[in-house]
Amino acid sequence: MDVAITFTVNGQPRSITTDAARSLLDVLREDLGLTGTKYGCGEGMCGACTVLVEGKPTRACVTRAADVAGKAVLTIEGLAAGSALHPVQEAFLAEDAFQCGYCTPGMILATVALLRETPHPTDEQILAALNSHLCRCGSYPRILKAVRRAAGKPGR
Ligand code: FES
Ligand code: FES
Repeated sequence: MDVAITFTVNGQPRSITTDAARSLLDVLREDLGLTGTKYGCGEGMCGACTVLVEGKPTRACVTRAADVAGKAVLTIEGLAAGSALHPVQEAFLAEDAFQCGYCTPGMILATVALLRETPHPTDEQILAALNSHLCRCGSYPRILKAVRRAAGKPGR
């Protein structure tokens, strides 16, 4: 059954009509062309599809688009301010915290949410926040360094 959904994506109001069962990930990628959000496992296990819904990290593959009606969604495309990258994006670049980059949008958005709640996290808090994000390239040490850098302690 089709439903009409209005929500905000990266600050822009969007209205779509879609099958009520479709995932937010499919709608973002296929209907709105926001392919920065990645399909990994499709089962809520890898974190590749993570976006922020009302500021909270959310797995778009297991979230129905209908469930974000009236809410604000932030994808990786909406993180930079014009040509100025977000500090977390800058930190990931500075630390070369990726190889293929497939996990990176989800890692970055989860980090943004972490640092909003906990500006100076311990390593344990960083690991807890990113624990369920998988990186098939094994870039974990550099990702950890990038999160530390973004938190203002690049030397640790
Ligand atoms: S694709 Fe959504 S958690 Fe893996
Ligand atoms: S950089 Fe390739 S999956 Fe993480």
